[in-house]
Amino acid sequence: AQPWRVGLIGFGCVGQGLYDILQQRPEAGFTIGRIVVKTPGKVRSLPAERFEFDADSLLADDSLDVLVEVIDDADTAFRLVSEALRRGRRVVTANKAMLARHLPALVQLQREGRGTLLYEAAVCGSIPVIRTLDAYFGAEPLRRLTGILNGSSNYVLTRMGEEGSDYAPALVEAQQQGFAETDPSLDMGAFDPRSKAVLLAAHAYGAFLDPEQVLNLGIEGISAVDIAFAASQGQKIKVVAGLQRLPDGRVTVLVTPQLVGPESPLYTVDHEFNGVVIEADFAGEQFLRGRGAGGHPTGSAVLADLAALRQGFAYQYPKVAEAPEYASDLEVEIYL
Ligand code: HSE
Repeated sequence: AQPWRVGLIGFGCVGQGLYDILQQRPEAGFTIGRIVVKTPGKVRSLPAERFEFDADSLLADDSLDVLVEVIDDADTAFRLVSEALRRGRRVVTANKAMLARHLPALVQLQREGRGTLLYEAAVCGSIPVIRTLDAYFGAEPLRRLTGILNGSSNYVLTRMGEEGSDYAPALVEAQQQGFAETDPSLDMGAFDPRSKAVLLAAHAYGAFLDPEQVLNLGIEGISAVDIAFAASQGQKIKVVAGLQRLPDGRVTVLVTPQLVGPESPLYTVDHEFNGVVIEADFAGEQFLRGRGAGGHPTGSAVLADLAALRQGFAYQYPKVAEAPEYASDLEVEIYL
């Protein structure tokens, strides 16, 4: 078969990661046909002729089999992705902030038969968690999900524990390795993992939450002394997203720093790794762990979506019919 031609919108950490993967693996059957970026004149790893600047012109290019949107700006991303779907196109995105805000509209477009959108790379980098929830656990009720969904803050907490130092130098390391958002307060303030928790809630429970409904607390106030104290008690401090189905059928979601002990699989999730524990009614507990940030791991999730699209895969949102209510009135126990 002919390789699929990819239209790539954005050439940051994830875009370059995907480009590099496809260069190293031509057998995968995808070539980057066109690349659109925002800023002309920037020094990039490819010759300047390779880049163009009008993303809208890609939407109408029928020689492209699929569009990959990996830009930073959520508003522009939503405009491009929704317009591409309206035109019936296949789209892959990694834009968690955009998805968390606009998922209902994007699902609606697909329900109307317009296009197909996959976004495994938006949650937990390389970990195949969205497809696991949507396709594998689609028929089974889930009790609880707990996860470390942000690589940068987990990296900072881990390094603070290793070095006994405060977080500024560790954050610079996370930025240098391409883990952090352009605005790192999204990582440190737990806004980024909140977006990811909203996406997990859609696939795990069929609940479309407004990110603003979900309580998120970050790690800005945590010091090396706090981490050392936790360690002296045999615990680690982690930013944990908790999604839970309550006995009354409602669901609740929150993202906060928590003490995690060795009895939890999340205790083993350090540095930029992410992890998700899924507790299903019949399967029991499962644990997924892998790299949650960085160009190659996140690019690998985009490649997985490209391959899934070629096989005709689309998300089903199997739990939406159950439409659980969101419990926003719970008393929350926070330790820090
Ligand atoms: N800034 C994000 C993180 C990148 O640190 O997890 C991956 O979504």
